[in-house]
Amino acid sequence: MKISSTLEKTINEQINHELQSHYDYLAIAAWFETTPYAGFASWMQKQSAEEQEHAMKFFNYLNDRGGTVVLSALVKPKAKYKSVVEAFKHALAQEQKITKLIHKLYAQAEKELDYETRHFLSWFLQEQVEEEKSAQDMIDRLELVGDSPHALLRLDAIAAARE
Ligand SMILES: [Fe+2]
Ligand SMILES: [Fe+2]
Repeated sequence: MKISSTLEKTINEQINHELQSHYDYLAIAAWFETTPYAGFASWMQKQSAEEQEHAMKFFNYLNDRGGTVVLSALVKPKAKYKSVVEAFKHALAQEQKITKLIHKLYAQAEKELDYETRHFLSWFLQEQVEEEKSAQDMIDRLELVGDSPHALLRLDAIAAARE
């Protein structure tokens, strides 16, 4: 069944939000490349790639449901951060925003009795739990260690090991 025009519009907006996340994480990775923290840079690059995959999931789903993908402009990402923890807090805030948008999309699918879209979105609901948790876990550890270079390099090594 062809997707409704309201869901088509919201999914197109979601493609833009996921691509904006991709771009924001890429900018954070670029900033980390200017610091000694190669592990955090790699973590952000991997996260950036995941966001592009999310955008493509929505892109393919909308096409599969007979909708038309319409891309729109991205916002220039923030380029500089004061600290490692500030960069991760920015990431967490972005994920929390995305979670709210997925909720809005889910509510719309529910209202329209679009069971396929609800089913499709369930993967994203679970994914957002994981993404918020991984950003929050890193923030908790960064706040615990403060400015200690030894501990920061230890966390950087943990971030580098991320799959
Ligand atoms: Fe995402
Ligand atoms: Fe995400």
